[in-house]
Amino acid sequence: MSYYQADKLGQKQTFNHNWLFSKGKQVDAEKTAFDDSSWQAVSLPHDWAIEGPFENKYNARNGGLPFHGDGWYRKSFKISAADKDKFVSVTFDGAMYDAHVYINGEFIGRRPFGYLAVNYDLTPHLNYGDKENVIAVSLSPKDLSTRWYPGAGLYRHTWLEINDPVHVAKWGTYVTTPEVTREKATVDLETKINNFGGQAKSELQTQIIAADGTVVLNASKNLGKLAKGTKTVNQSFTINNPILWDTENPHQYKILSSIIKNGVTVDQHTTPLGVRHLEFKPDDGFWLNWRRVQINGVCLHHDNGPIGAIANRRAIQRKLEIMQSMGVNSIRTSHNPPSPEMVELADEMGILMQVESFDVWGIQKQSVHNGYQVFFDEWHERDLTDMIIQYRNNPSVYMWSIGNEIMEQREKHGGAVAEMLTKIAHKVDPSRLVSAGFNNPPGAIKNGLAAAVDIPGLNYKPLSYAQRHKDHPTWPLVASETSSITSTRGVYHFPIEKYKTHDSRHVTSYDIIGPPWAYPPEIEFEYLAKTPAVMGEYMWTGFDYLGEPTPYGGKDHSGDGYWNADWPVRSSSFGAVDLVGFPKDRYYLYQSQWTTKPMVHVLPHWNWQNKIGEVIPVMAYTNAEQVELFVNGKSMGRKTKGVDKADLPVNFLRWEGEKRENYQSGYRLRWDVKYQPGEIKVVAYTKGKVAAEQVVKTAGLPAQVELIPDRTEIDADGQDLSYITVLVKDKDGNICPTADNQIRFFVEGAGVIEAVGNGNSATVAPFKADYRRAFNGKAMLIVQSKKGEVGDINIRVYSDQLKSKPIVIKAK
Ligand code: GAL
Repeated sequence: MSYYQADKLGQKQTFNHNWLFSKGKQVDAEKTAFDDSSWQAVSLPHDWAIEGPFENKYNARNGGLPFHGDGWYRKSFKISAADKDKFVSVTFDGAMYDAHVYINGEFIGRRPFGYLAVNYDLTPHLNYGDKENVIAVSLSPKDLSTRWYPGAGLYRHTWLEINDPVHVAKWGTYVTTPEVTREKATVDLETKINNFGGQAKSELQTQIIAADGTVVLNASKNLGKLAKGTKTVNQSFTINNPILWDTENPHQYKILSSIIKNGVTVDQHTTPLGVRHLEFKPDDGFWLNWRRVQINGVCLHHDNGPIGAIANRRAIQRKLEIMQSMGVNSIRTSHNPPSPEMVELADEMGILMQVESFDVWGIQKQSVHNGYQVFFDEWHERDLTDMIIQYRNNPSVYMWSIGNEIMEQREKHGGAVAEMLTKIAHKVDPSRLVSAGFNNPPGAIKNGLAAAVDIPGLNYKPLSYAQRHKDHPTWPLVASETSSITSTRGVYHFPIEKYKTHDSRHVTSYDIIGPPWAYPPEIEFEYLAKTPAVMGEYMWTGFDYLGEPTPYGGKDHSGDGYWNADWPVRSSSFGAVDLVGFPKDRYYLYQSQWTTKPMVHVLPHWNWQNKIGEVIPVMAYTNAEQVELFVNGKSMGRKTKGVDKADLPVNFLRWEGEKRENYQSGYRLRWDVKYQPGEIKVVAYTKGKVAAEQVVKTAGLPAQVELIPDRTEIDADGQDLSYITVLVKDKDGNICPTADNQIRFFVEGAGVIEAVGNGNSATVAPFKADYRRAFNGKAMLIVQSKKGEVGDINIRVYSDQLKSKPIVIKAK
C-alpha cells in the first residue's frame, strides 16, 4: 500500500488482481457482454512485451521485443450496495500507451501519454450489490514511438478508491515550506475538498506527524455547511525546531488530513512532508540545508531489466540501493515521469530527484515518427500539469525538467515553447525551479530557450562549463547528461584501443568506447572540479536498460529507423551496472569519485591462458591516495592518484570542436604487466597506511555453482522479490570470469521464478525461463513470492558437472 494514502478507512485498495488480457485488435471488447472467456488471466502490474520473444523483426532500439500493437484488459468486479452513495474511482499509475477506458460499456476517458497516473470517476456508471461491473482498457503502443523500451500494458499499479461523497480530492493537497531555518519552518498547506453529495456539516482536521509518530501539530478548521462542489482550504503552520529532510537523514513528516462529517470521520488523506532548504547558487552549485551538495547523479530509464517496465517496488528499491552504494545522491528520471514507487522510495532513501517530463515537444526526434510530438499540442499542458501535481509534495523532488535534447533547440520558436512550459510548471508548483537538458547549448542560448528555464542543463559539454558560467553568471547550471561511455561486464579487449564496434558485439570494460559525443567519466570529474558553478552531473546511465544498443545496431538515419544491424544486440551498454544489477568496472570508477569509505578495485580478470607473456594493462580505481600492485607477490610499484596518470587512447569531445586522441587520466592508475597466471593484488594506502585491498586470482575450471540471495526473507504478498546471484566458481571458490555454463533453476514451495538474466546485451535468451547461461561467470535468478502463501521457497540449480547446494528463502 502506498504511503500516501491513509487506509484506516479502507478507502484505497489494490485493483491489481483478476484481470483478463488479450493482445490484438478487438471488436466490442468494451461491452459488458463481450465474451472474454479465452483471454489470459493476469495480475497487474503487467508488461505484455517482456516475455518476448526477442525477434529481429522488432526494433532493437526498443529492446527487440513485441511492445507495439493493440492490447486489451478487462476486469469484472462488484461494489457493495452499502457503497451506493460513495464516490468510486480507479487510478492507473501508468498505462502504456494511449489508454481508452470504459466502464460497463461506456467510454470514460483517454490518455495517450503512458507515464502518468490517471484517475477515472466510475460513480455515475456503476452497478451495486450482486450485479457485476466490467472495466475495459484498450492500449495501443506504436512502432517507432520511442527511443528506448517503453514496456506495454498496465505496467504500473492500479487502485480502486471508495470515498465518502465528502473527501479530499485525488492529489488534492499541496504542501510547501516557504520559510525554513534550523529553528522553524513555515508549512503552507492547500487542501481541495470535494463534496459530491448534499450539504453537510463538515470539519477538516490536520495533523503533522513526525517519523517516530509524535504529533507535532494539530489543527482543525470548521467548514460549516459544506455545499456541493469543490472547496479549497488554505492553512499555514509553523513547526519549531524541524527535523530536516536530507540526503543523509531523510526525515519525513506526514500530514494526515481527516474530514469529519456530522461528527464522524469519513475520509483520511496522507501527504508526505519533508522540511528542507534548497538553494541554487549560480557561482557555487547546489546547497541543501545550508551545505553544498555535489550532485553525483545518474540518468535512469524506467525499465527494470528482466522484469521489464513493471513497476515492482522491490525491483526499484534494489536499483536505488545499488546506485546509492556507488555514491549516487540524485536521479534524473530520463526522459519521462517515473512511477510513484520510485519517488516514494527516493523520499525514504534520501535521493534527490530531477523529474523529467518529455523527450520531445512538437518536433519529431530522429526516426521516431509516432513519438510524443503527435500528442504534444493537444496534451502537453495536461500532462505536464499532472506530472507536477502528482509529485509536488515529495521532498525528494528538487527540480523539474521540461525536456531532454528537444529539437526546438535549433528552431526560432524554441524559446517561446520553453517559456510556455516553464510558466505551466511555475503555476502548478511555484516552489521549484525548472530545468531542461541541452545538447546544443549555442542553439538553446540563441533562441532564448536556455534563458526561459531556471536551471539550464548541459549535456556532454564539460569543456565549455567555464565559458558558459562566464557568459551567464546568473544562471545556475547542471550537467544534465554526461559521459555516455559503454562497456560490457567482464569483457576486456587488447590492446586498449579506440574502436567503433567489435566483432564480439560487446564493448571493452576499459571504459573508453562510446558514441561520438561520449567521453570517459574522468573528463567530467576533472571539469566539474574546475567549475563549482556547475552543481554536478547526471551520468548516462546508472543501469543498463532495454533498447538503444549503441554502439551496435547501426545509425538512426540508416533508413527505416530500425537498429538491428548487429542483432542480437538489443540492450544498452551505457550502464555502470549491467541489466541485472551486477556492477561493471565503471561502477567502481564512480565509487572512487563519489564515496569516501576506503575502496580499491582492480581490472581486468586474471584468466588469460592464451596470452602468457603478453602485456596486459592493469588498472586500479581507488578513493585512497596511492595504490601498489603486486603480481604473484612481486611489487610493480606504488602509484599516486592524480600524479601518476594513466594513458588512455581515446578520441572524444567532437561537439566542442576539440578532438583529442589521447587522455591522461588522473583518476585511474595503470600498470602494463606481462601476463603469467597466478594472482594480482592491489593495496591502497592513505597517509602511508593500508586503506583497502583486493586480490584477483587466475581461476581454474568451473566446478561449482553458488547461490547468493540478496534477501532470505520476503513478504508473501505476491509482489516481493529475492534476487539470487548465481556464481560459477572453480573448486577453490574463485569466480570463473569467462564461464558461460548453462544453468537450470528449480523453484518450489511458496515462490516462483519471476525472471532470469545475466547482463549479456547480445542474446535472445528469454527473461521468463527456468534456465540461463552464466555470462562471464554470473547469472541472476529473480524469485517472487506467491500471494498469501507463507512458507519456504526451495531453490536449487542443475548445471552439468558442477556441484551446487540448494538454498531456502522464507516467504512471510
Ligand atoms: C543522449 C540522449 C540519451 C541517450 C544518450 C546516449 O543524447 O539524451 O537519451 O540517447 O544520448 O548516449
